[in-house]
Parts: sequence; structure tokens; C-alpha cells
Amino acid sequence: MSRTILITGGAGFIGSHVVRRFVTKYPDFLIVNADKLTYAGNLENITDIEQNKNYRFERTDIVNKQDVINLFGKYSFDGVIHLAAESHVDRSITGPDEFVFTNIVGTLNLLNAARNSWKDNYSGKLFYHISTDEVYGSLGSEGYFTEETAYDPRSPYSASKASSDHMVRAFHHTFGLPVVISNCSNNYGPNQFPEKLIPLIINNIKNNKPLPVYGKGENIRDWLYVEDHASAIDLIFHRGRHGDTYNIGGNNEWKNIDLILLLCSIMDRKLKRPAGSSEKLITYVKDRPGHDMRYAIDSSKLQKELGWSPIPDFSAGLEKTVDWYLANTRWLERIISGEYEKYYEMMYSGR
Ligand code: NAD
Ligand code: TYD
Repeated sequence: MSRTILITGGAGFIGSHVVRRFVTKYPDFLIVNADKLTYAGNLENITDIEQNKNYRFERTDIVNKQDVINLFGKYSFDGVIHLAAESHVDRSITGPDEFVFTNIVGTLNLLNAARNSWKDNYSGKLFYHISTDEVYGSLGSEGYFTEETAYDPRSPYSASKASSDHMVRAFHHTFGLPVVISNCSNNYGPNQFPEKLIPLIINNIKNNKPLPVYGKGENIRDWLYVEDHASAIDLIFHRGRHGDTYNIGGNNEWKNIDLILLLCSIMDRKLKRPAGSSEKLITYVKDRPGHDMRYAIDSSKLQKELGWSPIPDFSAGLEKTVDWYLANTRWLERIISGEYEKYYEMMYSGR
């Protein structure tokens, strides 16, 4: 194997797409997926590649310093792509502590381990930290987040991610650790945990359950297909300038209510229900506390410097996503019933 790459959080939504891309595209890289398998981690996301010769799974809790030291003792990593995190804003409002442990302490443990293992000999090494556009705060109706926008996190989730971004930059400036950071907008696509907006709406329509719209449904998100995020990560990992930051976004802004209405019409068609049936399930509910109004990314730096571009057709990406959820009912049911978490406890307890 020419290089050994650690990918953290590779059993999660985005991580599973990144692991698949690297395992299949780079057969001479050894890809080590380190994941704690929290409620959001699901090895069923990557069953298609788990037998590949260049893939290993290590159940690791990045908050546990000794776990991380053991991992870096077992392998000689050339690169780290760090995606493991607590990622849901709503969960960060009901319980912020886990976000501080995983997103801040976990990132610090990985930075320390990388630094100690590389022993200030950084040739050919890279620590790539995956972050979010939410660190920049909330936009009004005008403007975009650029790489120069000042940080202004407003939820416990975004505050923990902002803190981890600062720590990564501090390790670069203070210790010379080669790092790169990317901040991405909202992802959608296959394998997203069904408590996030798009899979939740698809699943609730299928089961004729209410579609909860927070507040007036006027908040705006910039949606990016998950494989476009994975392709950007691939480019930045190989060609990104060390010490630099890249914004990744879909240039694809949707008001929540308009997106939900679009999903309703796609689902009516796919389920062969009369037009307008799913719309009737829309239910306005109490707003999320501190709900950021608008996110929109300017990704021109990544486009110009590294030649990246996302798929232009949102409705095609959304159709693909809906088809995937309708075809993978067993995946969804096992998550909703908690069956897969019980299985991991049995499989991995004591490891
Ligand atoms: P996810 O919640 O689907 O997956 C997170 C993964 O991290 C899971 O597999 C989980 O088991 C693992 N994990 C959690 N705590 C861990 C710990 N202590 N030790 C080891 N593993 C642990 O998240 P996602 O949506 O795939 O997001 C991945 C990354 O991308 C995160 O860093 C997130 O902040 C960032 N991001 C996400 C989005 C988005 O729209 N989902 C957008 C921009 C950036
Ligand atoms: P979410 O998928 O949680 O992503 P984020 O909060 O990180 O942007 O939510 C996307 C948007 O959808 C956000 O404005 C909150 C809103 N939302 C609802 O209106 N209803 C829901 O049930 C959920 C989960 C989200």
C-alpha cells in the first residue's frame, strides 16, 4: 500500500460516501475507518466495500485518548480525513455536552496523536478537518459566506465545530502541523440519518405522518448532493493548499417550505397517490430556538483554484435520493426500530 489514510466517522452519512470513494478509487491506499458507531453510525452504509483488501474498520471513540493513541500506534498514518462528529443541531439544543466532548475534545485528541506520531516530520502528511458553513452564523436575505467571513456560531453544534476549526488552525500556526479545512453547506442524498430534514420528510410522507415545518418554513438552506461533497473532499485532500480553508456549497438555495412542497410532489408521483395528497400532511410546529435564517456558500475559490463543480441538477439529485429511500426500506426500518444499535452492542461490546 502506498499510503495509509485514517477516515474518522466513516460509518456516518457523509463519511460512508467518502470511504467508498477512497477505497474504490485508490486501491493502493489502505483506508482505515475509525468510528464509535453512535446512533448515527451504521456499517450497513458500506457493506459493499467492507471486504475490499485495502479497507479496515476500527471501532474507536475519539473522545477516549487511549483509544486514539492505540489507533495511531497500530497504523502509520500518512493522512487523516476527520469527519466524526455529533452533527444534529436539534440534538445539540437538547444536550450540548456530547457536542463539546466529541467535536472539540475528540478533534484535539486526533491532533495530538497526529502530531506525536509524525514527530514534526511532516513530509507527505496531512490532517484534513471537515467542517460546516454553520460556523459563519446566519445570513440575511443578501450575501454569501466566503472563506473570509468572520465566525459567528449560534447553536451548540456550530459553536463546537467552530471551536474545533480554531484548534486545527492553532496546531498549524503553533506546531506547523499540515492541515486543511473545508466548510460545507447542507448535504442530502442516500444514507442520511432520518432525523434530518430531507429523509425525515420522505419517510413521513411514505408513512402518512405529519410533516413538521419549524416556524413559518421560511429559513433557507443551500443543498449539496453528498457525492459532490465527497468529490470536493477528494480534490482538497490531494491538491488543497496546506494551512488553507475551502468553502463547499451547492449554489442551490431553497426555502424549507418550498423544498418540502417539491418533495411532496415527487412523492405523490412515485407512490402513485393523487396530486396534492402529501401536502395535506404539512404541519407548522414551534420554531427551533435560535434558528439560523439563511445559509448560502460562495464556493468560487474551490471552483477556480481546484476546478471543482457540483452537479447542476437538484431535481435529479432529489429524485435519486427519494428512489434510494423507497428502495431501501429495510435500512430505514432497522434504524427506526433501533435494531442495528442493539446488534452493534452485541457485536462490539468489550472491544
Ligand atoms: P453523521 O452524524 O451522519 O455521522 C457522524 C459519524 O461520526 C457517525 O458514524 C458516528 O458514529 C461517528 N462518531 C460520533 N461520535 C464519535 C466518536 N466519539 N468517536 C468516533 N466516531 C464518532 O454526520 P454527517 O452528516 O455524516 O457529518 C459528517 C461531518 O461532516 C461532520 O463533521 C459534520 O459536522 C460535517 N458536515 C455535515 C454536513 C451535513 O449536512 N450533514 C454539512 C457540512 C459539514
Ligand atoms: P436539518 O436537516 O436539521 O439541518 P440544519 O439545521 O443543520 O440546517 O434542518 C434543515 C432545515 O429544516 C432547518 O432550517 C430546520 C428545518 N427543519 C424543519 O423545518 N423540520 C424538521 O423536522 C427538521 C428536522 C428540520
